[in-house]
Amino acid sequence: MEALRVAIAGTGNIARVHAKALSEAAGPAANLVAVMDVDDRKLGPFGSDFGIRETYRNLADLLSHGQPDLVHVCTPPSTHYELALGCLRAGVSVLVEKPPTISLREFDELAAAEGTSQGPWFATVFQHRFGSGQRRLKALASSGVLGRPLVAICHTTWFRDQAYFDVPWRGQWDTEGGGPTMGHGIHQMDMLLDVLGEWTEVSAVARTQARATATEDLSLAHVTFASGAVASIVNSVLSPREETYLRFDFERATVELTHLYGYGDDDWRITPAPGFEDEVLDAWKHAESGTPSSHAAQFGHVLDALAQGRRPPVGPAEARPTMALVAGIYASAFTGRPVAPGELGPGMPYYSQMNGARP
Ligand SMILES: NC(=O)c1ccc[n+]([C@@H]2O[C@H](COP(=O)([O-])OP(=O)(O)OC[C@H]3O[C@@H](n4cnc5c(N)ncnc54)[C@H](O)[C@@H]3O)[C@@H](O)[C@H]2O)c1
Repeated sequence: MEALRVAIAGTGNIARVHAKALSEAAGPAANLVAVMDVDDRKLGPFGSDFGIRETYRNLADLLSHGQPDLVHVCTPPSTHYELALGCLRAGVSVLVEKPPTISLREFDELAAAEGTSQGPWFATVFQHRFGSGQRRLKALASSGVLGRPLVAICHTTWFRDQAYFDVPWRGQWDTEGGGPTMGHGIHQMDMLLDVLGEWTEVSAVARTQARATATEDLSLAHVTFASGAVASIVNSVLSPREETYLRFDFERATVELTHLYGYGDDDWRITPAPGFEDEVLDAWKHAESGTPSSHAAQFGHVLDALAQGRRPPVGPAEARPTMALVAGIYASAFTGRPVAPGELGPGMPYYSQMNGARP
């Protein structure tokens, strides 16, 4: 089989992680054949650093001359929709950096622009789903060995100084779609939903506590799940001792993850409930291991799926609940009442804009 032809749109910071991860990803061969950026100062050095001869200034040229099978969209959030839609309409699958879009409306439109059974596909980068720790927890939770999920904690307590917000697209509703709820905590909330499944209601507060930014710099939420579990969420960029902490209390064990921007197996801890030590620890020991969370880990699964004509992860059905939770947090915080996912549809202000079009 011929190597997949991959292109990258946007050659800034995260694109460099993508280029390196593509060369490290397991699975079928893929060649980074072309890159595109509107800024020559980014495009030129990127092309020389990664040895890519085909460099383009717009999407039309990238698609027609580069002939990619897959485009990685690594541009600022508000540009994802147009670029991804352009790819899908040209019959090319897209892997879009988080947040996939800046609104649920844009997200649903991209999902609707996918092909039928053969693609093209729309997938989101949520790389923390693909480390072995998360996959192991998910497998054990669905096997029933941990018992019912009861309560969870999802803390993204990070630190970004005021200079971080100098990048023009950051901290603006119309370019980033939100603050740490949308930009930082989204990864951890995605992991929470990956394990706990369907959420049913969220109550939240969002504040601009310390940074000069148009969006929130802090949000807190509690979420209920169809399983009956409840979770507490903090999304902060104001926390000098930075930490990412997820904790799941099941009937038969507590599972914790403590790390910062990426985890390995050693960052996970399991504590069985009395009487369940043997079965819980045995299942934990024999489940998947050895893969840190990383872009390369997700890309391996994406390339595998594409080579086999399957939908690449993370597809719209899995990513939408995460985007809906982000929208639900803003809707609840700004209206002062609990919000259910079913409310977040066309006609609702928080469906078309994460801030509900507030001034
Ligand atoms: N998955 C992760 O852990 C992770 C980490 C960091 C950033 N990100 C996401 O990656 C995306 C990019 O972030 P970044 O930090 O690399 O940004 P960046 O500002 O460093 O790079 C963005 C690049 O896109 C280019 N660009 C802007 N508009 C364009 C357009 N219409 N067409 C082509 N190129 C265009 C810019 O010139 C720039 O070179 C964001 O969505 C961000 O949230 C994800």
